[in-house]
Amino acid sequence: MTITENYNRIVARIIDDVNNNTTDQAEGTLTVPSKAYTDPDLWQQEMDLIFKKVPVFVALTQEIPNAGDYKTFQFLDKPLLITRLKDGTARVMLNVCSHRAMTVATEPCGNKSRFTCPYHGWMYSNDGVLRGVADQEKFGDFDKQTNGLTQLPVYERGGMIFTVLEPDGEVDFDDFLGGMMEDISRLGMENWHFCGQRKVNGANWKVAYDGYLEGYHFAAAHPETIALRTYSNVMQFDSYGPHTLICFPHLAIKDNLADVAPEDYHKHESNGYDWIRTLFPNISLFVAPEITLISQIIPGPLPNQNTTYISFIHPTKPDGENAELQGMMDFFQEVVDVEDYQVGLKIQKGLEANAHANVTFGRNEAGNQLFHKWVEWYLAKDPSAPKPKL
Ligand code: FES
Ligand SMILES: [Fe+2]
Repeated sequence: MTITENYNRIVARIIDDVNNNTTDQAEGTLTVPSKAYTDPDLWQQEMDLIFKKVPVFVALTQEIPNAGDYKTFQFLDKPLLITRLKDGTARVMLNVCSHRAMTVATEPCGNKSRFTCPYHGWMYSNDGVLRGVADQEKFGDFDKQTNGLTQLPVYERGGMIFTVLEPDGEVDFDDFLGGMMEDISRLGMENWHFCGQRKVNGANWKVAYDGYLEGYHFAAAHPETIALRTYSNVMQFDSYGPHTLICFPHLAIKDNLADVAPEDYHKHESNGYDWIRTLFPNISLFVAPEITLISQIIPGPLPNQNTTYISFIHPTKPDGENAELQGMMDFFQEVVDVEDYQVGLKIQKGLEANAHANVTFGRNEAGNQLFHKWVEWYLAKDPSAPKPKL
């Protein structure tokens, strides 16, 4: 089945769901121990066996479109420097000086072909090569060739840049993300306009990720925002390995698709229904008519915390005043913060109270079930174990 045939199939099913007041369902319910969200040892295992092993998203292509553009941020214990070279390729490096470990690039983003370490003035080109040791006669011998910034793997696909946080992490990118990136590449985000980014603080990374995987909470938690446009508790799930494609029908789906042939359903993304695409372990991508949101959950620093960066991108530079665009990004940040992440912080308190040994995911929360099974699969460290499926 092609990607568009698959979209058509899923949309046809969601129309049936709306007509029959049904939703996609897992075979049974699933319990997950409450301590899976609170235990520091388990959290560390998740970081070591998932976040440091699989390719993780670090930047949009359009955040650093031009030669010399760069971006820095902290991902777990790794300070990252992501640069665009003259030849158009991207580099992902550890932003740590080889002299005495100072942060080399200190701004969140900018355009520079060379970076001078602020501590003693050593200089690096933006490919990470050490070009200058300050006052080298006095310093003594130092091999510049082998002492550049530590390079991490780079995979740039469909407008997104990924890395692996451990320098020697061998991964088969296509095996892990191939199917999902084929889907996402259809959007053509490498040519879109990057609009900006916002930050939200929240609870344990899985509490945050759980919120992107179901529309069961729309009516109660988003009555004045999402629920005005989208059915609550009507979802269809599909997956590429641990990554999910979830269909959410709009209240207007029947009107919007009434005259559309089933083979054209796929053309109506965000005009009748929405897709939420999630990239395991920490990304959610939502294409809305006004603007596209890419939410990136960075776990920590403590197990009960995460920082989420929401990047905004749009096929064209949005019309209107810049103030309007800023206002729109503020609005989305506010919805995520107030209606999802502040709920998440209360959930975290509930989990830490040890009131119930488990939380339970319903048959309707099939995406969450798949997610938690995949987390378990990675923690089990047994590649021969059967891979979880919807
Ligand atoms: S730590 Fe960077 S130059 Fe000394
Ligand atoms: Fe939500």
